[in-house]
Amino acid sequence: MDTTGTILHRFVFAMLCIVLAGPLVPPVSAKDDDSESSDGSSSSDSHDGNPLHARMEAIGDSFGHLARALQKAPAPAQTAQYLKWAEALHTNLKAAHQLTPAHAQALGDKERAAMNTAFKKDMTAAAATAQKLVAALKKDDLKQAATLITKLKVLRNAAHEKYREPDHDDE
Ligand code: HEM
Repeated sequence: MDTTGTILHRFVFAMLCIVLAGPLVPPVSAKDDDSESSDGSSSSDSHDGNPLHARMEAIGDSFGHLARALQKAPAPAQTAQYLKWAEALHTNLKAAHQLTPAHAQALGDKERAAMNTAFKKDMTAAAATAQKLVAALKKDDLKQAATLITKLKVLRNAAHEKYREPDHDDE
């Protein structure tokens, strides 16, 4: 009979439903970008539990950022960010030297031991180069940093040739 009263009633009811349902709706979170680990601690893909693969993913991540930035259009104002990536790269390469390539597991005792020794040596050389990269960035020497990125690419390609399972390609 009183239409205004009914409409008002329905409106109040609808508002109440919205207020009560609010907390039940999951929040649409702002993208908290932790998918790109800068310290290598995240291991979204452990590749059958091989910790080296997870390390390498983190290494590839920092290296990709650095190579794109330093070899295309280095921006002096971004040096602090480059330094963070370089430090993550160095930390992960240093840590990787204690790990074992999955490929080594398929070898006999002697060959496996030889591969592990050579692997450690090459990984140490790559970590030392990454350390130089950190030092160059600390001195704001972007030109030297770009040269060291090229050197790291050479070391990476040679190492992958030796230690990775066949059928892999680097870009
Ligand atoms: C800046 C240098 C390097 C970068 C950016 C890099 C990057 C990567 C990436 C992205 C992967 C995973 C790719 C895939 O399996 O599809 C990988 C795997 C691998 N890398 Fe590197 N790498 C570097 C240096 C090295 C060095 C110096 C060594 C050895 C001394 C090495 C040994 C390996 C091995 C053995 C694998 C396979 C991991 C497994 O056993 O599953 N890498 N690397």
